[in-house]
Amino acid sequence: MRHFLTLNDFSKAEILEILNLADKIKKETKDKKYEPYLKNQTLAMIFEKSSTRTRVSFETGIYQLGGQGLFLSSRDIQLGRGEPIKDTARVISSMVDMAMLRVYKQSDLVEFAKFSSVPVINGLSDDLHPVQLMADYMTIKEIANGETIAYIGDGNNMSNSWLMLASILGLELHIATPKGYEPNKNFINIAKENAKISGAKILLTHNPKEAIEGANVVATDTWISMGQEDEKERKVKDFEGFCVNKNLMSLACKDAILLHCLPAYRGYEVSDKVFESHARDIFLEAENRLHAQKGIMVWLDAHRND
Ligand code: CP
Ligand code: NVA
Repeated sequence: MRHFLTLNDFSKAEILEILNLADKIKKETKDKKYEPYLKNQTLAMIFEKSSTRTRVSFETGIYQLGGQGLFLSSRDIQLGRGEPIKDTARVISSMVDMAMLRVYKQSDLVEFAKFSSVPVINGLSDDLHPVQLMADYMTIKEIANGETIAYIGDGNNMSNSWLMLASILGLELHIATPKGYEPNKNFINIAKENAKISGAKILLTHNPKEAIEGANVVATDTWISMGQEDEKERKVKDFEGFCVNKNLMSLACKDAILLHCLPAYRGYEVSDKVFESHARDIFLEAENRLHAQKGIMVWLDAHRND
């Protein structure tokens, strides 16, 4: 059985296979053909943190595949009162067909998966957001004119995930963060190892202008991730010069697209003008969450007995 906890558990061929499946299901969905690939299956969705896109896309996705979603806020289930993850995993997985979790600690996902009898999907942790990257790459394949990517902003779960995706697929990725906000060293090291095999080119810099130059895809994310609300004042000061505004964006390729996993905070990581002039890209990226995740769920179902 396979889980979807980090992109690093997947080969390039597997990532592309899942995305091909997602493309096919997207076309069917657009034609209003809802094939019941996961008929009568239940997806448990456990959330320790807030969500708009992840909740709606997984719940709608499983429904369109012929199954049903079960929204479980950790505040409402016994997990929030201290029931161990390993007990929660054994109980829930005995009743449902798949589980998706949004958690703080990646190690909680690993623990849940260890004790789960059904596939487990990472719906975001402090370390990684792999389902988002599947939607992001799907969007790049649909509308970008090249695959040189610049990520401008915080060294967080999104930058770590970009490192994983680019290093597995062999893309060119430039990451610019302020000093002290670099991506997690562990993921940098994994990416460097992956790049030796894939041929990925990875640049880590503190200069957003250097990173964005020649990019076909510019990506950013909030400076204040969920759980970091107390750090806002300091971070806003430290991130001066990292707002993706007109001046910065003008250094990217002329037809560069802008990706933002959302929610966006205008005036901080991105200016309102730049955001709105790339609304087509960003909201296609959001929509693609639905399609990419349907691909992931159908793929995991097909590999249940691996
Ligand atoms: N991008 C993303 O995961 O959005 P939500 O936090 O709304 O799920
Ligand atoms: N880095 C952000 C992503 C939100 C989808 C966070 O973790 O809050």
